[in-house]
Amino acid sequence: MTQQLTIALTKGRILQQTLPLLKAAGLSPVEDIASSRKLIFNTEHSDVRLVILRGSDVPTYVRHGAADVGVVGKDMLLEFGADGLYEPLDLGIARCRLMTAGFSGRESVRTRVRVASKFVNIARRYYSSKGVQADIIKLYGAMELAPLMDLADEIVDIVDTGNTLRANGMSPLEHIADISTRLVVNKAAMRTRHGVIQEVIEALARAVEQIVDQDSAL
Ligand code: PRP
Repeated sequence: MTQQLTIALTKGRILQQTLPLLKAAGLSPVEDIASSRKLIFNTEHSDVRLVILRGSDVPTYVRHGAADVGVVGKDMLLEFGADGLYEPLDLGIARCRLMTAGFSGRESVRTRVRVASKFVNIARRYYSSKGVQADIIKLYGAMELAPLMDLADEIVDIVDTGNTLRANGMSPLEHIADISTRLVVNKAAMRTRHGVIQEVIEALARAVEQIVDQDSAL
């Protein structure tokens, strides 16, 4: 048997929204991922298997060829870079915005700002492009707490409904990028395993269209 094609999935909210696409594409896992502690799953397509990772690790696995294909948020690609990866398909799921946020009304003329984020590379690039000197503080979660505790003046974070910011007395301030989940492919694998990868891309592209059509019919 030839080696299976490996697709690295991002666990959490993205995984929940990826499963219907995999199902429509004939790539469903043969076991229930949610009720298992396993990290590797066979699919109904005998040549394709899935691995379940943190989003921040998906670009690394695909770049090194440990996985051939990945499903990952654009935020992770902007933060960790997309060298060695093709990005052939926007899956259109987990849409949100990458924003700066803080207490509105406080952003008068700034020359120096303390910024807390898990997206330190994006934050550094963004403030530098604005000519604002930023002291970037790396956090791993609960970014909204940082301005409340006076650890930072602003945060750079994902905003979806805006509820988390509102609940903590803050507002979105500046838009940095629109985010959605992307399919990425290892560049070398795209050449050496072109047939099966093209099949997966086309099946997922059809699944995305099918789900868009279903949504617009509602
Ligand atoms: C993200 C983000 C915000 C929240 C925004 O966190 O960091 O906290 O969602 O969503 P909202 O605008 O709809 O309130 P997530 O729940 O993904 O968890 P994380 O802290 O692990 O990133």
